[in-house]
Amino acid sequence: MKIDVVLGLQWGDEGKGKIVDVLAGRYPAVARFQGGPNAGHSLQFDGKSFVVRSIPSGIFRKGSVNVIGSGVVLDPITFQEECGNVAKMDIVASERIVISKKAHLILPTHRLLDAAYEAAAGKGKIGSTLKGIGPTYTDKVSRHGLRVGDILAPDFQDRFNKLKSRHVKMLSDLGYECDPEKDEKAWMEAVEFLRGFKLIDCEYFVDSWLKDQPMLAEGAQGSLLDIDYGSYPFVTSSNTTIGGVCTGLGVAPSKIGKVYGIFKAYCTRVGSGPFPTELFDETGEKIRQIGHEFGAVTGRPRRCGWLDLVALKYTVMVDGVTDLIMMKSDCLDSFETIKVCTSYIIDGKETSVFPFETQAEITPVYKEFKGWNCDLTGIRKESELPKEFKDYIKFMEDFLGVPIKIISLGPDREATIER
Ligand code: IMO
Ligand code: MG
Repeated sequence: MKIDVVLGLQWGDEGKGKIVDVLAGRYPAVARFQGGPNAGHSLQFDGKSFVVRSIPSGIFRKGSVNVIGSGVVLDPITFQEECGNVAKMDIVASERIVISKKAHLILPTHRLLDAAYEAAAGKGKIGSTLKGIGPTYTDKVSRHGLRVGDILAPDFQDRFNKLKSRHVKMLSDLGYECDPEKDEKAWMEAVEFLRGFKLIDCEYFVDSWLKDQPMLAEGAQGSLLDIDYGSYPFVTSSNTTIGGVCTGLGVAPSKIGKVYGIFKAYCTRVGSGPFPTELFDETGEKIRQIGHEFGAVTGRPRRCGWLDLVALKYTVMVDGVTDLIMMKSDCLDSFETIKVCTSYIIDGKETSVFPFETQAEITPVYKEFKGWNCDLTGIRKESELPKEFKDYIKFMEDFLGVPIKIISLGPDREATIER
């Protein structure tokens, strides 16, 4: 059987949590393959809302298996908190979650380093979520990291101390004032909690699972935040694009089935970096208010702007998207005119190429659509969608060359049309 994949195609916050939750009914296993608690995946059902950070969004489905893969960076403290939250719904996390021994651990000092680097960067800061993601991946790549499987080693405490000392020296070199021991006790207790989970060899687990059952891989962040293909350096520190699935779970490309690409009917971005269609006027503010565009992790107001089809076509290409999923078009219900960017003007020349240069002065070229001006949220059948909306969708499918298979018209599980 295959592993199907859900990827965010923009700068994160596309609505991956809701879609994974909707699809999870069809996939007995859901796997996270990269990122960590910088993610904030929101789900809503039975009149209640939830946000998961490190736990896969399949957790709420009875009988589901939720894999935290090797490419993930895991903060035991946040993870324990999250497990506490789902316990309120009588879900025993250790019965539904397995964790790769090869996933890397976020230490309290990784978080401090994240804050220290951002403080030192001043105006050039990334706008990190400050969860320690960058420093943890840095340690992984420089071969200093601690992995989840290491918590079983008899000399774990020594290895922890060694890495912590390294960080303390770095923090002192950066002149960053902090107490490196502040969360250590809670962290060690959370590590103890982690020992109650089934720790797996992810690549063998996935291989044997796919022999007779399908799996869904849940991306975190968005493709435009990819360490290699995003607007570097204003990116996260992992591969959020399709290749991350293979490296993050230890699964071969030939095992990948459908690639669901999720996008919002407009764009948002938290943190710094280029955003060609960003709106600084009341239209941007209107999108922010109607779309509740405030960070699920940090509470920061998100930057808002029109849909950027140049960027979207780029990520559809990089990810090899087979099925598109459009989110939040209902948030545009009250707009007279809706714009989508179809090309850029850079240095006086029109282009449809997503640029290498993050400092480039980009003028978006827009196509305007007449708004549908009616409430889409209650619609559950495609035949009931207004003509203006259908024209808008048709244009996007033609432009992107991939069908839009799911349209989400509200945060609830039920507010979903499949085509
Ligand atoms: P989900 O999974 C939106 C952004 C941060 C910052 C940059 C680097 O909910 O879509 P990091 O903490 O990773 O070092 O931050 O990436 N970022 C996200 N933006 N949604 C996310 O996750 C994000 N995770 C990180 O705002 O600009
Ligand atoms: Mg989010």
